[in-house]
Amino acid sequence: MLPFHKAVESDFSAVNDLIIANLHSNVGLVENIGHYIVGSGGKRLRPVVLLLSALANGYQGKQHQSMAAVIEFIHTATLLHDDVVDVSALRRGRETANNQWGNAPSVLVGDFIYSRAFQMLVEIGDMRIMGVIADATNVISEGEVQQMANAGNSSIDETIYYEVIYRKTAKLFEAAARVGAILAAVEPESMAAYGKHLGLAFQIVDDVLDYQGDSQSTGKNIGDDLAEGKMTLPLIYARDHVDEQQRQVICAAVESKSAEQFETILEIVRQSSSIDYCIEQAQQQAELAKQALDGLPDSDLKVVMAELADFSVARLS
Ligand code: IPE
Ligand code: IPE
Ligand code: MG
Ligand code: MG
Repeated sequence: MLPFHKAVESDFSAVNDLIIANLHSNVGLVENIGHYIVGSGGKRLRPVVLLLSALANGYQGKQHQSMAAVIEFIHTATLLHDDVVDVSALRRGRETANNQWGNAPSVLVGDFIYSRAFQMLVEIGDMRIMGVIADATNVISEGEVQQMANAGNSSIDETIYYEVIYRKTAKLFEAAARVGAILAAVEPESMAAYGKHLGLAFQIVDDVLDYQGDSQSTGKNIGDDLAEGKMTLPLIYARDHVDEQQRQVICAAVESKSAEQFETILEIVRQSSSIDYCIEQAQQQAELAKQALDGLPDSDLKVVMAELADFSVARLS
């Protein structure tokens, strides 16, 4: 258990119970796949962000628990869909659902989990929160479509990269933090900013780990992004800071959506100091996340929120 799980331990365990209870379906395959992905673990960062944001702002009710489960369901559904789109074989240290059952069951169970999240939201019955989650889900889909449309395009620049990662990843972190603040009945913009910058830092680091992580600790295969022709930050910076011949190796791999030259490209990326650049960018985002906490009353939970921002970058070392 990581320190930020510990800080919200009893709520966190209630959230895990809610997640399991709400996977219930009368259709066996839905439950099998649902339990498979949920039971393989995952860091549960987004629910933790929601819990922290609510509690650090003085929330005293119980709805933060079901809202945290809703957020994790949305995340889980996006993972089921994302692994189909990315043709990924490993997730949370296990074969992906698409590898185990095929694409169609993964997509359909993803739909089930999305819609279950919205059923839970209806039960909570807060239109403002429903709006935040509906918007986030909608924007995540746009981000994933935008990324798919950009696949194989070697001219993607940082501006587009940031747009995509904001949509596909940071938006859900932002929504989690925003909902916590709404539950606590405080002005939600600072918390939303915290979630947004945390999410951006987190995805930059995820993109670095896709090059130089190890699948033992990430639970995912490395090289997936290159194989999908994704121009992520480690490649964008390298492309713009290496010689012409190396640049061509990068662009050709992206355009042909091939990880065949992965080792060569990893070496080019390393030599170009792209990794250092990406770490700096992630650190900047983590700093912005911490700055967004300035107005929050001092508490142990506030300290944990700052640590969580540092953790998103520390995963690299
Ligand atoms: C994976 O997110 C998808 C990204 C946005 C990079 P996590 O790394 O939070 O996945 P789990 O839930 O811990 O498996
Ligand atoms: C994650 O993007 C975004 C969503 C799941 C919406 P990635 O494709 O980088 O995530 P991983 O690396 O598969 O976890
Ligand atoms: Mg993926
Ligand atoms: Mg990734």
